[in-house]
Amino acid sequence: MTLLSIRNLEVQFKHYEGVTTALKKISLDIKEGEKVALVGESGSGKSVTARMILGLLSNSNIKKNGEIFFENIDLLKESSSQIKQIRGNKISMIFQDPVSSLNPYFTVHKQMLQALENHTKDYDKNTIEKYFVDLLKDVKIEDPERVLNSYAFQLSGGMAQRVMISMALINNPKLILADEPTTALDVTVQKKVLSIMKDVISRKKMSMLLISHNLGVVREFADKIYVIYQGTILEEGSTEKIFNSPGHIYTQTLLQAIPKIYEQLINAKLKRHQNTD
Ligand SMILES: Nc1ncnc2c1ncn2[C@@H]1O[C@H](COP(=O)(O)OP(=O)(O)O)[C@@H](O)[C@H]1O
Ligand SMILES: [Mg+2]
Repeated sequence: MTLLSIRNLEVQFKHYEGVTTALKKISLDIKEGEKVALVGESGSGKSVTARMILGLLSNSNIKKNGEIFFENIDLLKESSSQIKQIRGNKISMIFQDPVSSLNPYFTVHKQMLQALENHTKDYDKNTIEKYFVDLLKDVKIEDPERVLNSYAFQLSGGMAQRVMISMALINNPKLILADEPTTALDVTVQKKVLSIMKDVISRKKMSMLLISHNLGVVREFADKIYVIYQGTILEEGSTEKIFNSPGHIYTQTLLQAIPKIYEQLINAKLKRHQNTD
């Protein structure tokens, strides 16, 4: 069954010089339990797509057309209070930079509690800590009690991103949006975090939209891939089809760019001498 269906979504930003069309009538479907990737280079409209789904783009300078059906209701027609009920609850989000997405002043425990209490006050206080510990175990954190009482600066980038993933799971969402979730991490940590994310989402039978500029990153992860370029979906297909017989020349270019991107990441890593985990 289809969980999310974007139909002919057009988004324009009005500014002094004129109008930027960020999305040109894109359509995209995610079924229940399906892991879908949206891939394209920087500026192609990936983040705008995610922000539209979350109802985060709604001021008078933004013109939108089309539909975003989620569980058969059109999110574009919902009031902002109804969208707030859905965001962080039925649809949750994992952002790019985990360390700065966490609040530096609160422990992980406190932030998990806030994520929960944003949507329900009706939970069992005696078992909630165990629930959080189990969520951290779900993302393969071996010392969940320590992590629960830690602050962001005490966590490595990979660890912080795993915490963000478990926070995204708190309200048992139907759909998780992940916008370049591992771009800020070293290449070895990226792979580990993606594989942990894939496992937990598959086990919980959630749906996911993974956004990346790198086709190589989504290969192991996605069932289906959409390729976006300058606000237009150029091609969609199963991951196997996109990799084995890309239909569009732009997709072929993205495929050829994969080894180069990895090379750059590895070189950058050597330069930084960063800790990995
Ligand atoms: N708030 C905004 N106001 C004006 N233009 C924007 C805004 N957000 C995004 N854009 C423009 O929309 C296009 C797509 O941006 P974005 O979705 O962020 O790209 P990316 O694929 O890198 O995530 C870009 O041309 C960007 O400059
Ligand atoms: Mg982006």
